[in-house]
Formats: sequence, structure tokens, C-alpha cells
Amino acid sequence: MARDNIFAGLEIGTTKVCVVVAEARHDNTLKILGVGNAPSRGIRKGEIVDFETAKRCVHDAIVDAEERSDVEISEVYLGISGGHIRSFNNRGVVVLEEGREEIDEQDLEDVRTNAREVSLPMEDCVLHTIIQHYYVDGQDGVLNPLGLFGKKLEADFHIVYGIRTRIQNAIRCVKELELETADVVISSFATAQAVLDKNDKQLGALVIDIGGGTTDFVVYVEGAVKQSGVIAVGGDHITNDLSIGLKIPSARAEKLKIEEGDVTLGNAFPGETIVLRDETGFAGREIERETLNQIVHCRLREILEIVERQVEADQNLNYLGAGVFITGGSSQLRGIEHLASEVFGMPARTTAPLPLAGVTSAFEHPQFSTAIGLARYAHLVHLDRPITRGILSRTMKRLTGIFRT
Ligand SMILES: Nc1ncnc2c1ncn2[C@@H]1O[C@H](COP(=O)(O)OP(=O)(O)O)[C@@H](O)[C@H]1O
Ligand SMILES: [Mg+2]
Repeated sequence: MARDNIFAGLEIGTTKVCVVVAEARHDNTLKILGVGNAPSRGIRKGEIVDFETAKRCVHDAIVDAEERSDVEISEVYLGISGGHIRSFNNRGVVVLEEGREEIDEQDLEDVRTNAREVSLPMEDCVLHTIIQHYYVDGQDGVLNPLGLFGKKLEADFHIVYGIRTRIQNAIRCVKELELETADVVISSFATAQAVLDKNDKQLGALVIDIGGGTTDFVVYVEGAVKQSGVIAVGGDHITNDLSIGLKIPSARAEKLKIEEGDVTLGNAFPGETIVLRDETGFAGREIERETLNQIVHCRLREILEIVERQVEADQNLNYLGAGVFITGGSSQLRGIEHLASEVFGMPARTTAPLPLAGVTSAFEHPQFSTAIGLARYAHLVHLDRPITRGILSRTMKRLTGIFRT
């Protein structure tokens, strides 16, 4: 992977580890060369809980991606999730000193630093400082203040932070496999790069990624990231509820959820049952379809309502012109669009990654949105768009520095 036009995205999910290898082409489009996968073990609610086991899974996914893409991976863009991740919005201010009137690179750095000067708990570190809007001498709508005349530069940022040691665990996992971490990116932000186009971001959109152990969301308003969050609840909780509620083994509950589960209530005929066949170690039995659907419905409604309350609390619900986009493995539950539209009171649709060159139908699955989004993010950084570069690179140096020696 010596060529600097090849990027790899790595998602260490609760259900699977996924690696996407992509190539930037001359016309500035991105082509997927291959996707590698391995089932996750040693990961709970998006975080590593058994280091050696998790490392083996990451290794397997990397090897799989290398074989499929015919690329030797040397560096990855690493997706980060977990309930410890928090965020807030803050404004930075810089006043140019006497005799200087033109805004330069240093002012842009200074306004960013100023916005980050908020006291965080000792154990936390900043992951992202994402620019929202610039203002020069009170004038808003400034897209790029560099080179403009002005005395006062202000800027709003979305700042994401998390517990340092948990982030370092994921980075160390990569490091011990002899790979570099080019950047750490919150998963929801990466996912948005895969499922939203520029227009959606401009109109306002909420992206919800419902995976196995977490639900990650991000809100775009007027083209900028306005809010993000991680809830430590996902599709595995639905499986768990089914296992307990129906008194069946977890693996059987997972299969039942995927094959028969539907979140729509009142869809089953009265008394309609599903026969679970005998399987090793599990005596077969009949269960009521409506009971199954009720359990799935309740948990999924709860997940969606938690997101809805958080988006409402930040007063962003009225700015989602493009609506709600749901992705991740659990977005495949039947009836989810209808339920989400009801919970949010606006159109909601399920989505897989937007089409990319080289993405055959094999990759057009909502489970791959984050990893494909990481490759897209890497491409954006490569194109040097003024998103979050610089500061992230420095964050990385700080985070990875400990593991250098
Ligand atoms: N067809 C399906 N219908 C409903 N749920 C599904 C389906 N396929 C996968 N899932 C669920 O999706 C979750 C995994 O999603 P994924 O996005 O791969 O998770 P993660 O990124 O957290 O590893 C699991 O809880 C799994 O049960
Ligand atoms: Mg995921």
C-alpha cells in the first residue's frame, strides 16, 4: 500500500470487523477494491473487552481484505464507537493583533484551539473538532475566511471526545498488527459520508446506524455536523429480549429475528404461530407471531425514541429537511421505516452505502456503511477538503505517541 491513493477503512463492530480497501482515481472518484470481514469476538457494545481475541478478529478481517483487494494494507482509518463518546458545540474567537488585518492559517488554528479550551474530565481526550460555520467581524455564511480582511474571527465547532484509554485500546490493536492508524474517526461521522450526499447534508439529515451493540447517530444541519451520539443499545438487545422472553437459546433467537421478525404490530393473523424445529440441544416448539413482533417492536421503538429525545433536546428535529436515514445491520428489520417515520414524525428510509465504482451488489449492504464511509472520509482528507484535517492528525500523534516506543 505504498501508493498514497489507496485507503483502508476499519470498523471494529460488535458483530463483525469490516475492512474496506478503496482507490482514488484520476477523476476524483473512489473505487472499492475489496471488502474483508470477520465475525467479532472480544468486543462488547462497540468496545474492546478482550484484547487478544479482538486482535485476532481484526487480523482475520485485514487478511481477508488484502486477499480480496490484492493490496497489502499498511495503514487504516479507524472507526470508533462506544457509549463513552460524547460531544458538544462550542464557539472559538480570535481577535487579530494591531496592524494585521488579513486572516491567515494561524488564525484558523487559533480559533479551533480556542473552541477546544473547555475543561474536560481528566480521562477524556478530544477526537474531533469539526468546523460548522465561520464568522468574520460578525458576518455569517463565510465559507473560507483564509485571506479575508477582518479584525475578529469566530467559528462554531462540533467537538467530539471520549475516554482516552478506550480509544487507545483500539489503536493498540491496529499497532500490534504492524499497521499504522492514519486517523481515528467516530463511526457515525464516517457512516454519514457513505449514506448522505451533499444535498442531504445541506437540507438537514439524521443518520442512525443500528448495529449489534451500539446505535450511532449524527445530525447534519445546513451542511454542518450539528450533533452526534452513541447509545450502547443495538440489535443484539433485541435478540437477547427474544431469548429471554420466548425462553429460547440466543443463537435460535438471532435466527428467528432475522428470518421472521417484523416490527409492525397487528400484522399477524390471530393465533398465528411459528414452529421452531428441533435443533441440537434445543427441543422444538411453537411461538406466537404477534408475541415475537411485539418484543422486536418494543426494543426497536425504545432505541429510536432515545435518539428522538436527544435530537429533540438539542432542538434539531425541525431542521431535518431530508429526513431520517437508517443503516447498519439492524436496519434490515421488516417494518422499521414505518416505525421510524412514526417516532420522528417525518419521512424515514433505510439505506445502504451510496453507489461507488467497484461496489458490486456484494457490498451494497447496510452493515458496510461505516467501513465504506471510512474509506470515503479518507478520500475527502486526501482531496484536502477543509473538514477536520490537521487537528485530527495531531490528535493521532498524541494518541499513538505512547505506543511508538
Ligand atoms: N436481516 C437482518 N434483519 C434484522 N437484523 C439483522 C439482519 N442482519 C443482521 N442483523 C442484525 O444486525 C446487527 C449487526 O449489525 P452490524 O451493522 O453488522 O453491527 P456492528 O457494526 O455493530 O458490528 C446484529 O444485531 C444482527 O442481528
Ligand atoms: Mg457498525
